[in-house]
Parts: sequence; C-alpha cells; structure tokens
Amino acid sequence: MRMVQTLETPSLLLDYQKLVMNIKNIADFAEDQGISYRPHIKTHKSVKIAKLQLEAGAVGVTCAKVSEAEVMAAGGINDILIAYPISSPDKIKKIVDLLQQGVHLKVSVDHTESLGYLQQGLEQSPFTLEVWIKVNSGLNRCGVEPGQEAVLLAKAILSHSKLKLGGIFTHAGHSYAAKTYEEIENIGLQEGLAVVESAKECEQAGILIPVRSVGSTPTFRVAGKIPGITEIRPGNAVFFDGIQVGLGVANTDNCAVTLLASVVGEYKDRIILDTGSKSLCLDKGAHGNQTVSGFGQIIGHPEVIIQRLSEEHGVGSLTGETKLKINDKVQIIPNHACTVVNQFEEYVVHENGKEIDVWKVDARGMVK
Ligand SMILES: Cc1ncc(COP(=O)(O)O)c(C=O)c1O
Repeated sequence: MRMVQTLETPSLLLDYQKLVMNIKNIADFAEDQGISYRPHIKTHKSVKIAKLQLEAGAVGVTCAKVSEAEVMAAGGINDILIAYPISSPDKIKKIVDLLQQGVHLKVSVDHTESLGYLQQGLEQSPFTLEVWIKVNSGLNRCGVEPGQEAVLLAKAILSHSKLKLGGIFTHAGHSYAAKTYEEIENIGLQEGLAVVESAKECEQAGILIPVRSVGSTPTFRVAGKIPGITEIRPGNAVFFDGIQVGLGVANTDNCAVTLLASVVGEYKDRIILDTGSKSLCLDKGAHGNQTVSGFGQIIGHPEVIIQRLSEEHGVGSLTGETKLKINDKVQIIPNHACTVVNQFEEYVVHENGKEIDVWKVDARGMVK
C-alpha cells in the first residue's frame, strides 16, 4: 500500500486510529452516563463509518435528509431518525417506502400541519410512523418552544391514528457561536433542560416520552449529563475539525480528516495550493461561529495562512519564511469537515500515513 504523501492531490485523507478513538470516546461517554448514542451521519455520509459507530454501541443513526436515510437503509442500517421537518407528498412517499423495507424510522415534527400531511400519506399503508417532537433550545431554527407548545403538539400527535410519539429532541447549534467554554456549558445545560422539562410537562399531562435526545458536538458532554436525557446525537465529533479546535472542544491531534494538497505556485509573499473552494469550502463556521481565521490549517506550517480561496486555488499568505516549494505536499485540517467530505467521492483511509483502504462517501450530494 502507498504512503499518503505519494497520492495525487487534492485527496481526502482519513486517519483510521483517530477515527476509531473519536468513536470510542463518544461511545464511552454514552455508556458511562447510561444513555444511547445516535450519531448524525451528515458528517461522514459513509455506511462503513456508520457501521463502526453501531459496532461501538450506537443504537441507530441520525440523518438530515430522506435521501441520506435511503443510502443508510440500502447499506443495511435499519434504525434511523430523520431530524428534519417533512411535509411534502414526494418525501412522505419515500418514508412509506423505507417503512416498507422494515426500517425503524423516526421523523421530526414541529407543526400540526405536518401531522396532517404525514397521516394522509400513511393512510393507505399498513404502517404507523414514529415521530419525535423537535423543541427549540435557542438556535431559533426549527422546533416548537419547550414546555406547553410541546405538550400541545404531543396531544395533536395522539389524535392521529397513523402516528406514534416516540421522543422529544433538540439541537443546540447556537453553541457554535460561543466565545468561552462557560458559554458552551450554559447552552448545553439549556439544551438538556429544554428537552427534559418538555418531557416532564408531557408526562404530567399523561403522555409518555420514552426518548429525550440532545446533541451537538460542542455541547453533548454537558447536555448528555442532565438527568432525564436518554440519548446524544453528535455528528462532527466523529472527525473534529478546525472549528471544534477553535471552540476548544478538540485539539488538532483529534482531527481525523485532512486534505492532502500540493503547492502549485511559490511567490515572494505567498504560496498557491491546489485546494480551492471546491475542496476546502468557503465555510468559516455556521450559526455565528468566529473561531477560525483562514480557510484551513496546514499541519506543521503555521507560517502559512490560507487567506483566500477561488474555486481551484488556495492562496497561502506567508507570515514568515517557508521551506514549502512547488510539488511539496501538505495536509490541511479543514475548518468544517462535514462540508468538505461532501465534496469528495472517497476517503483514503490511512494508519500513520500508510494507506490501508479506500471508503466511499456513500451519501455524498444527498441533499434531497
Ligand atoms: C438535529 C441535529 N442533531 C445533531 C446534529 C449534530 O451536530 P454536530 O455536528 O455539532 O455534532 C445536528 C447538526 O446539524 C443536527 O441538526
């Protein structure tokens, strides 16, 4: 097998030992807390990695999109949460198809209108669909407000014969804007409480809430400790990236995914890399995150800041002397691993820089 430094660039590299360690660390945390682990696969989009997570103890997976769920189901994964609002008839038809295949599917709901659409789509089928109520814990994206709004939706679910209420969940994506770890802790606490309090109010109204699920990579270690929480759903923590390092929830040694790039130009004040926005992505962090400066971190070369990207060029400004010259290869820790992975067909999996396998990014481009 080849050394990764000899590969054509740009290539997406995956460090096997770091991957396995990251998965184990999440699974160990869940086991220590006595709760379940349902990773979000939007980060890796790989059946193989999802199966490693299941082998490590995950109870199933989380997907954002129906098309991602279809890929996971085709790969043999049969416990799937689609954590996304679904009301359109074409998507509901696909959900019925997944139920037909025997997938234990759960779908996010946060509108009474959607319940009607789901009920209608399932009416002619022999199936009932498990739905989880999404509550807003401060991200202000989707979700009913915690407490009485969740109770009202829970009651509405009970009045739909084809729907069954399985859980309450939230995602504290606003933790990405945190400036200190204390802020992350506060957001994680609110995340856990939003779910637990909503579940409590439902149970006071006589409605059982078996699953109470939280999850973002910055907060899962806080929210997952709140009594009453039964499940965590971190996605990015399987790889980590520059944004997580900037937030202080990982260090560069934990980052399992890198891009292998070549120097294609050297000038007085800059070098040019063959990784532009079509590989490194222009992503500097969602939800107000401001922890990264450039467009990726070149390992071992702090003197180069990737300051600008065009589609196929990365412009690395020099802050000091560099030994890098044309045809040198470097590894770059991406700012946001989830978006970068979606640009590539495959991972070159390596151990200590030696290629051991090639894995497909199975759900690449699955945005439907
Ligand atoms: C509903 C939901 N759950 C879990 C996650 C995982 O978040 P992270 O990648 O921060 O771990 C996300 C991320 O977008 C999400 O939207």
